[in-house]
Amino acid sequence: MASDNLAVIILAAGLGTRMRSDLPKVMHPVGGRPMIAHLMDTVASLNPQRVVVVVGPGMEAVEQAVAPAVTVVQAQRLGTGHAVMQAREALAGFGGDILVLYGDTPLLTAETLARMLAERRAAQDPAVVVLGFKPADPGHYGRLVVGAEGLKAIVEFKDASEDQRRIPLCNSGVMALDGRRLWGLAERIGNDNAKGEYYLTDLVALARGAGAACSFVLGDEEELLGVNSRAELAAAERVLQGRLRRAAMAGGATLIDPEAVWLSWDTKLGRDVVVWPQVIFYPGVRVGDGVTIKGFCHFEGCSIADGAEVGPFARLRPGAEIGVKVHIGNFVEVKKATVEEGAKVNHLAYIGDARVGAGSNVGAGTITCNYDGFTKSFTDIGAGAFIGSNSSLVAPVKVGDGAVVGAGSVVTKDVSANALAVARGSQMEVGGWADRFRTAKTAEKAAKKGS
Ligand code: UD1
Ligand code: CA
Repeated sequence: MASDNLAVIILAAGLGTRMRSDLPKVMHPVGGRPMIAHLMDTVASLNPQRVVVVVGPGMEAVEQAVAPAVTVVQAQRLGTGHAVMQAREALAGFGGDILVLYGDTPLLTAETLARMLAERRAAQDPAVVVLGFKPADPGHYGRLVVGAEGLKAIVEFKDASEDQRRIPLCNSGVMALDGRRLWGLAERIGNDNAKGEYYLTDLVALARGAGAACSFVLGDEEELLGVNSRAELAAAERVLQGRLRRAAMAGGATLIDPEAVWLSWDTKLGRDVVVWPQVIFYPGVRVGDGVTIKGFCHFEGCSIADGAEVGPFARLRPGAEIGVKVHIGNFVEVKKATVEEGAKVNHLAYIGDARVGAGSNVGAGTITCNYDGFTKSFTDIGAGAFIGSNSSLVAPVKVGDGAVVGAGSVVTKDVSANALAVARGSQMEVGGWADRFRTAKTAEKAAKKGS
């Protein structure tokens, strides 16, 4: 149900110059998806009536990532106050509460935003609520000037006095505003300051000057981490990984060394899953209950059903569906293929565009030859089949239920159910040949020495 008294403005027009990237800053991923997508999810959980994202010119990628949220383009980057003004038209007629967020704080939680809104709706009816925090290094953050009657002003670092720079309480950038009073105040923001920008932070002093109350809520430094550089991106990744690992463990998975397991925002691990170190879950992975994953595996866009055993050194690519109690062993790659219940693919194999029927055994070194340089073709292995080691199955090809393929075969034709197919050079034998060969060579050598 949409909350008819909440709108959200997300500022994302910044160039992110310090990222040194062709990608808009908010499109850089943490936990396997763009920063802005994390924020959009957090915002969605508050059920806002409207969401407006302020982007820069040419940021179509961001517009697509946030759809169906409304985007407005800030043609010139004249400051955070100017950026918020760009959303005015899109929010015309809206008189509820407005949250302003910065697109580069992906770790922000819904709980913190809910605290902001609760404060905004408190008895003193503040026009502006600011999310403050006390970072270990206050650096160049804006500082909150607080008096007996609450928040008085925010001073930007560049404009702050020596005394103000010693204030430990900083501005995170997140604000909760009264939509009925915002625009009247915001249009009075000027740019007569050290940066020559329209500072959104001036709202506080303007509101106070107009006789309105302002207040702040205290937040956690880790959660408010803003990403301006690649190093900060890595720091955000670390925090997010910590959250994902704790959630996986709380859900009943054992991570033997949590720091050595990398998860994505959408990784789903069942109960009694055991994950050994050095396993990477790229996006789109679902793991059932009681699955054991040994070390050094890479998974992406795949599912692993209950009781399966995977790894070490397995790679499951998009479309791999590993069935109940299946065994996938070392140096096995599976792509867009279903491996049905109880089947075993234990060593050095490539299974792509294929089905491996229930209970089948695929020998070491088996390759499904699925690609001829132009098209991908399907290999269908029936239930209970046995594929001998080092076989090549040249798709499109079908191996029937219960069939046996002899080791080293290059299978180019369908194999009937329960048949034996052997497709390799047949073995011949010449009795005593090796002995005669050695005797002749030894004599040759002795003759050469004597001459
Ligand atoms: C801002 C705050 C500062 C706070 C800090 C927290 C102001 C004036 N200062 O400073 O008090 O401590 O964040 O990180 O608000 N943006 C636009 N259009 C613009 C300018 C900015 O969309 O014209 C967006 C950026 O993309 C970014 C956000 O607004 O997402 C913040 O802008 P940024 O330039 O990073 O502000 P700071 O200098 O960090
Ligand atoms: Ca910033």
